[in-house]
Amino acid sequence: MRAAIIEGDGIGKEVIPEAVAILDYFNETYDWGIEKVPVEVGLGKWEKTGSAITDDDISLLKTCNLILFGAITTVNDPSYKSVLLRIRKELDLYANVRPILPISGIYKLLKIKDHKEENVNIVIVRENTEGLYSGVEEIGAEKSMTTRVITKRASERIAAFASNLASARKNKLLVVHKSNVLKSDKLFLDTCRQTAESRGVDVSDKLVDIFAYDLIMNPEKYDVVVTTNLFGDILSDLGAVLLGSIGLAPSANIGDNQAFFEPVHGSAPDIAGKGIANPIAAVLSLKMMFDYMGKTREACLVSRAVTAAVADKIVTPDLGGKYSTKEVGDFILSKVRQLDAASFCLEDPEDISKLKP
Ligand code: NAI
Ligand code: MG
Repeated sequence: MRAAIIEGDGIGKEVIPEAVAILDYFNETYDWGIEKVPVEVGLGKWEKTGSAITDDDISLLKTCNLILFGAITTVNDPSYKSVLLRIRKELDLYANVRPILPISGIYKLLKIKDHKEENVNIVIVRENTEGLYSGVEEIGAEKSMTTRVITKRASERIAAFASNLASARKNKLLVVHKSNVLKSDKLFLDTCRQTAESRGVDVSDKLVDIFAYDLIMNPEKYDVVVTTNLFGDILSDLGAVLLGSIGLAPSANIGDNQAFFEPVHGSAPDIAGKGIANPIAAVLSLKMMFDYMGKTREACLVSRAVTAAVADKIVTPDLGGKYSTKEVGDFILSKVRQLDAASFCLEDPEDISKLKP
């Protein structure tokens, strides 16, 4: 098995090594046989070579089953095209999965009183290949246009993915859209409804604006949510409010043959180089990679170790702590080793996926 490692720019270079150290530990201890393939893409590469990602990089990524990605800085230059959009599209990573599941103890640490941690457990499934991120654009000085593309095929497959996830959880799926104004969303809504119903999933829908309000006011009402590309992008960053920090939000981009795991946050130029970025979003993205690989015990060990860091207040400044990225990463790794040696997470692996981080 091959795993591409893309640190990217800014804090990507600081948080990804902390996740890779955990991957190395399991890979070496249990002989998983994962070959790591470092891939350089992003602004750093653009500045050096004039190209942020090449055809060769895409070909190399296509040879990797798994990809762990940090973040990339995007500059406002018309010749600089989004690297991430290109990777998602060329590898056809059509399902962007963003869990909103607070770490046990985080509300107490951050003194969040508006909600109960145990009532927040949502997964936003974002269509990742079309919508307003279609790349179909006409840019002019007087008028610029971006075409919002919705196809039946892409809507069907994202709805099928979300319905599978829903049936493994509460069998409830919410379709978030704006079909009252955007007529293209009627195709998305109707297709999602039909697909979910044909799979026996209990489906309902909501307009995106009121959903944004309700997500923060009444998160306990929601479980699996499926939506279009831009709405999913915005709603999942908003949902990170319920996690306590953008530095705690992991995600996965899943295709039929490959999967790509990344923290939701960007390259954070304002804190890059200071060694204070929260590595937990990257570590929990690795946990999602373990879940995808069927390594449920190892995923559980990572969750437990992250929970221990929060319980012991070994956290970065975004969570009110005084520890560095490396200190938090080292603590999590030492906890993983300790829990592994103590045979934690051995019982009932069926239930492990439902454990809170
Ligand atoms: P950002 O997520 O990089 O930062 C937003 C705020 O959150 C900043 O104040 C930052 O310091 C803080 N933050 C983010 N991650 C953190 C962490 N792990 N620990 C502690 N604090 C954290 O978003 P922003 O500032 O809008 O974008 C910066 C650059 O990143 C831009 O060039 C943007 O295009 C790019 N970006 C890349 C993404 C990716 O590669 N997946 C996703 C989002 C933005
Ligand atoms: Mg975003």
